[in-house]
Amino acid sequence: MDSIHVQGGRSLSGEISVQGSKNAVLPIMAAAVLVKGVTVLKNCPDITDVRCMIKLLQSIGCLVEYTGDSLMIDARQITSHTLPHEYVKKMRSSIILMGALLGRTGKVALNYPGGCIIGKRPIDLHLEAFAEMGIRIEQTDEKLEAAAHRIRGNEICLRMASVGATENVILAAVLAEGTTILKNAAREPEIAALCDFLIRCGAGLYRSAKGDVIVIEGVRALHSCEYRIPFDRIVAGTYLFGTMAAGGNICLRDICADQLGQVLAVIRIMGGNVVCTRDAVCLQAPSRPLPVPYVRTAVYPGFPTDLQSPLMAALCRADGHSLLEETIFENRLRIVPELRKMGAQIMVNGRQAKIEGTGCLCGACVKAEELRGGAALVMAGLAAQGETVIYGREFINRGYEDIRRDIVSLGGSLFYEETEGPSQKGDEAETE
Ligand code: UD1
Repeated sequence: MDSIHVQGGRSLSGEISVQGSKNAVLPIMAAAVLVKGVTVLKNCPDITDVRCMIKLLQSIGCLVEYTGDSLMIDARQITSHTLPHEYVKKMRSSIILMGALLGRTGKVALNYPGGCIIGKRPIDLHLEAFAEMGIRIEQTDEKLEAAAHRIRGNEICLRMASVGATENVILAAVLAEGTTILKNAAREPEIAALCDFLIRCGAGLYRSAKGDVIVIEGVRALHSCEYRIPFDRIVAGTYLFGTMAAGGNICLRDICADQLGQVLAVIRIMGGNVVCTRDAVCLQAPSRPLPVPYVRTAVYPGFPTDLQSPLMAALCRADGHSLLEETIFENRLRIVPELRKMGAQIMVNGRQAKIEGTGCLCGACVKAEELRGGAALVMAGLAAQGETVIYGREFINRGYEDIRRDIVSLGGSLFYEETEGPSQKGDEAETE
């Protein structure tokens, strides 16, 4: 099991550029399947989830080349509509290939991806929407097959503004017959990125000003294009909360502050001094953060569930008590026992966590069980006195290109250690 060693107790300072977004690149890679041509994605983050999506694309016949930060996907030939379970089970977001394969070939087969450590994660909304588009679905306990002679546009209103279901409907609708009107669509910036990409490929796609209604007029074909993946707002938020935990003064470049609205609002309540320019966010953290009376996670533009654990890590050092509520995933307070090992005082009641700030955390051996919780433990380690060892680095690698590179550039002290032995659930536990 690979580990990360953090020497804590020193503040962060400096300037870094933020990597491309995981949650934007994965659906856009899936969307490339709809293009009978060549897609080039720039600023593609080198994370294990992207590597897994490459394997999935290759398994259905795409030719893929990854050079530097440029990913070329040649989807002129699609040779299979079956997604290999080996990769589907590794990465739950492989289900967004369903909409893309249905749109391109009219059929898809896969083994059901199952739940994951942060929650049950059903896909009922995806399947209901597909059914409304005339797609037949056959399910057994393990297997899922969907097919349509012709996918038909329809008016669909999602019961919940699910990110994945929104993406799947868009992907299935782009080459469908007629018009799809998707209501209560997710409004996350990654949906906007997917729509931008598809529009550049020639899709007939329109988003309402608020983003909650998406109209898709089916077109006959899409054409090749080159697209730059936008910055990862969750990685940016992780480093901002890391700085709030450890103290310091950092500047994140190549990012758009508008996408961090609620995150920056919370940081300001915590006493952070934030200055935004056109493409950068600079933060001067207080020596000890102020507590926040109450923060709940919510769909965009609310506070992102993916930053709940990094925020919790920072609040452990606050001067007073804070209350966090997780409303999106039922099992996402899993880092609490690990933070307690570092001296944090946290009480959990259902989906709420009450955090009694302590002046300092202390280094300990802790275990990452999922991506964002793992990164949050690294942030807590930066704020702790002494050494923190975080096991389960493979989870963090799913979404952070190189957390060591970034933190060391910001003056933090951190190194990786490779350890012999079986990796911890790395094969089966999907995180996001
Ligand atoms: C995406 C993000 C993930 C983020 C999440 C919420 C990617 C690759 N992952 O995940 O990082 O944490 O959005 O912002 O983009 N639900 C149902 N039925 C469904 C679908 C979802 O009940 O058919 C529920 C889920 O269990 C969850 C909630 O809706 O409680 C939100 O899920 P969803 O928005 O679909 O998240 P993902 O697309 O899986």
